[in-house]
Amino acid sequence: MHPVHAWLEQNIERFENDLEEFLRIPSVSTDPERAADVAHCAEWVAGRLRTIGMENVVVHATPGHPIVTAEYLKAGPDAPTVLFYGHYDVQPVDPLHLWTSPPFEPVRRDGKIFARGATDDKGQVFLHICALEAMLAVHGSLPVNVKLLIEGEEEIGSPNLTPFVRERATDLACDAVLVSDTAMFAPGKPSLVYGLRGLAYMQIDVQGPNRDLHSGSYGGAVANPLNALASIISKLKSDDGRILIDGFYDGVLELTSDERSGLARLGERDETLKADVGVDTLVGEEGWTTTERLGARPTLDVNGMIGGFTGEGAKTVLPARASAKVSMRLVPNQSTEDIARKFTEYVKKVTPPGVTVTVRDLHGADPVLVPRDTPAMKAATQALQDVFGEDVRFTREGGSIPVVLLFETVLHAPTVLMGFGLHDENAHSPDEHFDLKNFVAGMKATALFYENVAHSS
Ligand code: BES
Ligand code: MN
Ligand code: MN
Repeated sequence: MHPVHAWLEQNIERFENDLEEFLRIPSVSTDPERAADVAHCAEWVAGRLRTIGMENVVVHATPGHPIVTAEYLKAGPDAPTVLFYGHYDVQPVDPLHLWTSPPFEPVRRDGKIFARGATDDKGQVFLHICALEAMLAVHGSLPVNVKLLIEGEEEIGSPNLTPFVRERATDLACDAVLVSDTAMFAPGKPSLVYGLRGLAYMQIDVQGPNRDLHSGSYGGAVANPLNALASIISKLKSDDGRILIDGFYDGVLELTSDERSGLARLGERDETLKADVGVDTLVGEEGWTTTERLGARPTLDVNGMIGGFTGEGAKTVLPARASAKVSMRLVPNQSTEDIARKFTEYVKKVTPPGVTVTVRDLHGADPVLVPRDTPAMKAATQALQDVFGEDVRFTREGGSIPVVLLFETVLHAPTVLMGFGLHDENAHSPDEHFDLKNFVAGMKATALFYENVAHSS
């Protein structure tokens, strides 16, 4: 066995325990009450990086949550440089009562570790730290230069990382970026993701009368903000799934026939998907497969609606206000800024009389396609193949990672999206978990990746 792989296997129990420690820190970035925990989590990551021998480990304060950076530059100026990016922040845990065990008290069951952040993204970040530790322990050095960039605001749209990357482009200069924050194709079947969707996340606030009203005394004469909101929402999408916002599809990059056949070769996933989520029909735009709809077509979804009487029983009331949170997943070459503007204009246009509407842009991410023919991508393909003994699938994913486009536009470096999560590991939902087999396989693949990159230069 590869000496680094053997060393990893000997240390796996310790790594699992340390991952539990990482997962115990409730680093929920969106919750202002957790700010101190998020900061503590940044320090925890930095401490770990110092322990394994990284240099220049810095916790950078930002107007929001800290960014952790570190370097290992001893491979020298002639060796390639890889920038690893990941996030230590996590999503909120609600609904709490649906968790089998508390979200910040990690437990191992059936070869999986359960906790908020297990797969997204702490487990995947930590496996990289373990791989670096292993290589340093076995060889006393790394074959390439490595920089690490680990942020605490990915789950809220990376508002402070964007300016950080722009300002520190020189410090972050690299030949390739490595990210593990996506899913594998299926258990045992590794994939490299070459496309991520973007996001425009909006809030619509509808204001009607100056106070809640008796619906008998006023209903029929005064506009109801909830009815108005429903009317607005019903005009966003047609019944066949097309988004009706003016200019929404401008610039949408069509799939090439090459890509379509590539994605088709991955096989149908409709049955697994239906079984996974417990529905008997899938819906979507006519003319695209499920894989295409999820990875390469834009969508619009209502994430939540607020308003009116929601208690037990019946209350006859005409509410004064109503709100909705609406997000759109975007594809190349849509831009989050342009779509947010078009959405705002359209909502104003279709708002019925008698109410006033305010539209807010909460956050967003630009979509991205990464090149598939770079040396780094080949290094990753070979590494995954060697560890999993399976051909690597090239896929597009429906989720978003806000900073990835910047790696290309600001750092001019290709990104490799080599994820070790699984689609059904409940990211963002109760009972999030991470398969411990992939935890160690990810470490092994990462170690091989660095060796392959070193040899490809
Ligand atoms: N790890 C995910 C991104 C992801 C999800 C990639 C699924 C591929 C498949 C990331 O942590 C995430 O959740 N991103 C947010 C971004 C948003 C908050 C700006 C998302 O996609 O909702
Ligand atoms: Mn993530
Ligand atoms: Mn996430």
